[in-house]
Amino acid sequence: MVESVAVPISVYRYDPARDATPRYVDYSLDLPRHTPVLTALLKIRSEIDSTLSLRYSCRSSICGSCAMLINSKSRLACQTQVGPELDLHGRVVVDPMRNQPVLRDLVVDQGPFWQDYERIVPHLVPDPAHPMPEGKPNPMTPEQVDRFYETPRCIACGACYSACPAKEADPTFPGPMALAKLYRFVVDPRDGARRERLLRIQPGGLWTCLRCHLCTSSCPKDVRPSERIRDLKELAIHEQGATEAGSRHAVGFKENLHDRGLLNEMRLVRQTDGVVGLLRQAPQGLRLARKKPELLKKPRRIEGQDQVQKLYELLEDEEGGA
Ligand code: SF4
Ligand code: SF4
Ligand code: FES
Repeated sequence: MVESVAVPISVYRYDPARDATPRYVDYSLDLPRHTPVLTALLKIRSEIDSTLSLRYSCRSSICGSCAMLINSKSRLACQTQVGPELDLHGRVVVDPMRNQPVLRDLVVDQGPFWQDYERIVPHLVPDPAHPMPEGKPNPMTPEQVDRFYETPRCIACGACYSACPAKEADPTFPGPMALAKLYRFVVDPRDGARRERLLRIQPGGLWTCLRCHLCTSSCPKDVRPSERIRDLKELAIHEQGATEAGSRHAVGFKENLHDRGLLNEMRLVRQTDGVVGLLRQAPQGLRLARKKPELLKKPRRIEGQDQVQKLYELLEDEEGGA
C-alpha cells in the first residue's frame, strides 16, 4: 500500500461576482507523494468545496488545459506531483496563470493569448511562385523538417506566456508561444510570406524579449521558445538589416567584442541610439563615469583578442555552411 503524507495546499480563490478582492484558502489533504496537483485540486472540489473553478481535460499532459502557477512557477497541474513541491517549499501554493485576466479562481481568460497567436498568421501562406501540387503531398527533406521539429510539440498550454516578463511589461509583445510558431512558418520552405512575416514582427515585437529563458524553463514540451526567438532575431537582421534599436544593439555588441574583446559602452550607445541618443544620455553617462572613470579611457584590446576573432571566424564559417 502506498503511504500518504499530509499536503498543505493554498489555493487562490476569486469570484468577481461575489468577492471584492482575491484571497487564499488553505486545505489539508492526505495524499501519496506522487499525486498530481490537478488530482489534489479535483479532490478538494469533489470532497470539500464544489465551487472551486479550474480548467482541465486530458489529465495526461496532452491537451494543455491545466496550466497554472504552482509555487510561483507556470506549469501543468497534471504533470506536477505534490511530493517534490513539499520537499522544495513545504507546501503547495496554486495561483492562476499570469498575463491573462482571471475569470474565476484558477480559470483565466485566454482571449489575449489566442489573439496574439492569430496575429502571427499561424498557417502556411501559399507561395504563388511555387504552387502546392494539387491533390498531392508537398514533401520536405528531413533536413528542412529538422529546422522546426520542436515547435509542433507545442500544446498551446500558455505556461510560457504566463512566465514571460516581456509580456507583462509590454502587452503588445506577442509572447513566446506565438513567436515560436512564427519561426516554424518562417523556416518552412513552402511558405510564401517569409519576408512579410519577418518585416512585420521587427517593430516593437521581436526585440522586446529580454532573453531571460523563463519561457523555455516553463515549457512542459521542451519547445524552447527563447531559442527560436533568438533564431528569428538573426533571420530578421539578415532579411532587413539592423533597423531597430534592439537589432542595432545586438550588432553593436557583436562588433565591440569582435574588435576589442570588451564593450566600449559609449560606442555601444552611439551604435544603438545614434549621436542624438548619445547626447541625450550624456548626463547619465557623466554620472556613471564619475563612479567608473575607466569608461572615459581609450578602450584597449584584451589579451588573446586574436583568439576571440578566430572564434568569430569559426562561427561565421559554421553559419555559412548551415
Ligand atoms: S526569453 Fe523572452 S519570450 Fe521568453 S520569457 Fe523571457 S522575455 Fe519572454
Ligand atoms: S511553447 Fe511550451 S509552454 Fe508555450 S504554449 Fe507551447 S507547450 Fe506551452
Ligand atoms: S489536463 Fe490536459 S495537459 Fe493537464
